[in-house]
Amino acid sequence: MKKIMILGASSLQLPGIVKAKEMGLHVIAVDMNKEAIGFRYADEGYVISTTDISNVVKAAKKSKVDGVLTLATDMPVRTVAAVAEELSLPAISIDNSLKATNKAFMREALNSYGVPCPYFIKVNNEGDFFQAVKEVTDKGYRCIVKPVDNSGSRGVNLLSRYDEVSLKEAFKYSKKNSRSGEVIVEEYMEGPEVCVETLSVDGICFPIQITDKLTTGAPYFVEMGHSQPSKLSIDEQADIKRVAIAANMAIGNFNGSSCTEIKVTKEGAKVVELGARLAGDYMTTDLVPLSTGVNMVESVIKIALGEKPDCAIKFNKGSAIRFLEADEGIIRSISGIKEAQAVSGVKRVGIDKKIGDEVVQIKSSLDRIGYVIAQADTSHEATKICEEAVSKIKITVEKI
Ligand SMILES: Nc1ncnc2c1ncn2[C@@H]1O[C@H](COP(=O)(O)OP(=O)(O)O)[C@@H](O)[C@H]1O
Ligand SMILES: [Mg+2]
Repeated sequence: MKKIMILGASSLQLPGIVKAKEMGLHVIAVDMNKEAIGFRYADEGYVISTTDISNVVKAAKKSKVDGVLTLATDMPVRTVAAVAEELSLPAISIDNSLKATNKAFMREALNSYGVPCPYFIKVNNEGDFFQAVKEVTDKGYRCIVKPVDNSGSRGVNLLSRYDEVSLKEAFKYSKKNSRSGEVIVEEYMEGPEVCVETLSVDGICFPIQITDKLTTGAPYFVEMGHSQPSKLSIDEQADIKRVAIAANMAIGNFNGSSCTEIKVTKEGAKVVELGARLAGDYMTTDLVPLSTGVNMVESVIKIALGEKPDCAIKFNKGSAIRFLEADEGIIRSISGIKEAQAVSGVKRVGIDKKIGDEVVQIKSSLDRIGYVIAQADTSHEATKICEEAVSKIKITVEKI
């Protein structure tokens, strides 16, 4: 029986653990949280941080794994690369994993291959930050500031005021959310945002689906909904796919999946960032199978084992997810879940908070309350179904 190691055993990686079990594999889960739900489904577990590279490599050697992968989070991609290199398994290389997990290295790699992306400057102190903001604005752009190495929109903010106090605050916010202390200041790209879900096998990249994204907008850009397929024109979609393929090749993401985030600007598609792993936010576990019939999770497991995945689109349907919002305060009641589930086309309703939890202003994905997923003939209809289901869910809060 082949052995697959999955980095992360939280609800984000659970679909990978469950699918691998269904495929008859021996599953080894790794997570620093010994209570992580995935351990209950795995055959073997290691309580190690997914970013503790040397100990995860030791565990992988001890268990003689035949494949390694992660889902939905970026930093473990470096650990995947280290395990794969040590055991000669198919995955991203160590060098390329750095390009996929550090936004400054990523921009440099994209620029060196001429892949369209925004103008950017990397900084690590306030003086350089002020200088960088001046340079970017002198070019006529609005500035967005982000940590080089975080995710879920943590530390991302679009500058709206350029006075000294506001700039200092913006830098502090991004730097606080940066592991390395480095921050990038870059051109703010105007236009619709999409994510391209890709599968790559031996350097051939297949764009499987394009997702339209709905974010909270400025200043924090937290993703509040997604729908597939994209409603953009055929020409725009062709440009998006071309840029996504080029980005995967520039980063060197030759075996595995990617979620390549793109803004469609007046000058064409430009890369926001590339995650060298399956997208989170239920995009690949739920939305892609609902809109195309392609099983992304099974495909990445096969790729990790050196087997050929089935990348063929089976059908063209619409799928959507909408995340729930509520006023700020302490949750006192949640109702209407059954009614939401009963709306025709709704595939799943999930609530991530419970009574007594605090609802805060949504600044990152972790602050969201729950979600509704739907399938229909078109993305427009699937979105409407989500909205109808969301309207049935009532969350009351007590102000604090
Ligand atoms: N240069 C940019 N131009 C326009 N929007 C951007 C830019 N960079 C980031 N964003 C917005 O902020 C969101 C989060 O930024 P991103 O770089 O993807 O960070 P994270 O790793 O936290 O997801 C993006 O999805 C996008 O909506
Ligand atoms: Mg992102």
